[in-house]
Amino acid sequence: MDYLQIEGGHRLEGVVEAGGSKNSGLILMLCSLLTDEPVVLNRLPRLRDVTTMKDLLVSFGGAFEDLGSHKIKLQLSELKSVEADYDLVRTMRASITCLGPLLAREGKAKVSLPGGCAIGNRPVDIHLDGMRQLGAEIHLREGYIFAEVKSSLKGAKIILPFPSVGATENLMMAATLAEGETILKNCALEPEIVDIANMLNKMGAKIKGAGSKEIRISGVHNLCGVEYDVMFDRIETATLLLAGPMTGGSVRVEKCRRNEIGAVCNIFESCGISIKSGDDWVEASAGIDFKPVDIVTEPFPGCPTDVQAQLMAFLCQVPGGSTIDERIFENRFMHVPELSRMGAEIYVKGSKAEICGRKSPFHGVKVMATDLRASASLVLAGLSAKGATTIRRIYHLDRGYEQIETKLAKIGAKIQRLSPGP
Ligand code: EPZ
Repeated sequence: MDYLQIEGGHRLEGVVEAGGSKNSGLILMLCSLLTDEPVVLNRLPRLRDVTTMKDLLVSFGGAFEDLGSHKIKLQLSELKSVEADYDLVRTMRASITCLGPLLAREGKAKVSLPGGCAIGNRPVDIHLDGMRQLGAEIHLREGYIFAEVKSSLKGAKIILPFPSVGATENLMMAATLAEGETILKNCALEPEIVDIANMLNKMGAKIKGAGSKEIRISGVHNLCGVEYDVMFDRIETATLLLAGPMTGGSVRVEKCRRNEIGAVCNIFESCGISIKSGDDWVEASAGIDFKPVDIVTEPFPGCPTDVQAQLMAFLCQVPGGSTIDERIFENRFMHVPELSRMGAEIYVKGSKAEICGRKSPFHGVKVMATDLRASASLVLAGLSAKGATTIRRIYHLDRGYEQIETKLAKIGAKIQRLSPGP
């Protein structure tokens, strides 16, 4: 298995580009289930999760073509299966979001329950309750969700108990081909929801209000094929931006918009990081001195949980006491033991982490990635550590970051991907 070797202590200065969004791109791929015509996606990042999603769609009978330079073509002319197998679903929880499109297209689905993962037990009750309100019969047996609808899904007024990103996406996709109007209330507001609604409307769907708490979908008979540019990855952007101040330097990320990472930029500024931005770029530079802060992760537009681990790595080297309250997932502090091995001083009590930050706490050691964003926090810590850091199990990192080592090396990092000897 590959590993990363980082020689820390080098200032990062320069300009990098964000890639296409993993969390939007995966769902846009699933939208190809809603039509028998070809769907072409541009700017789809080359990630392990994208490959897993491709395998899932091919298992349904999809034709997949890699057209090069991040452009792919998918076509589900007809479905040969409606079963999402455990072995595929267990590695990527986003797979549960195939339930809505399968019910809308075929009226039935057999989808493995996702099971837990490193960051939490990932229940899907909001997804299932919503599908029942759209008229689906749902039974759970042998670790699978058996879903069926007699004729077609019927529009309904659904109030989500929590603004779940995946449930909002799942129900929005299902409702595009339901009879009548569906109103989703207390929806997730994440920019990825808007991106997905934009593509569905380009396919002929009638969706209003994406990006607000209430989304109205008027069902149509069918959707047509489309070519669409995936939005840029705001989480990758936030991660790359942090690499500047972490090393006393400055990083500009192009092809991003400040309003998609507004809460993160506000936190950066309150820590003493200097932020500049234009229409399609944001730049983060080390300030004179940094200040400790208290952070709470929240649904958009609050501080995204997907940047929590990266922010923690940064706060470890901000002198003084900072706190992070992880309000979204119940077990998203797996990076704490590894950061502590590198010299950080962090105390976890329930959902709260207390960080005793100090100047240059990190020294290079061997560490192990445990989940996607934890891996990113270890990379950031390695960049500012004294000495060499080795990060193993970087297949976690490869789920959500395309060649991050190449982007970081371009702006001054001494980082390389190595494979163990024979
Ligand atoms: C999406 O996951 C993202 N994944 C996650 O990114 C992100 O962390 C999360 O949204 C929150 O922003 C993709 O978009 C592919 P949720 P999702 O449903 O949809 C609870 C990354 O690092 N919940 O908004 O699974 C759930 O347990 C990944 O890129 C229920 O209780 O997130 C969690 O506590 C990690 N019942 C909270 O809601 C449900 O039916 C937020 O989950 C669904 C969710």
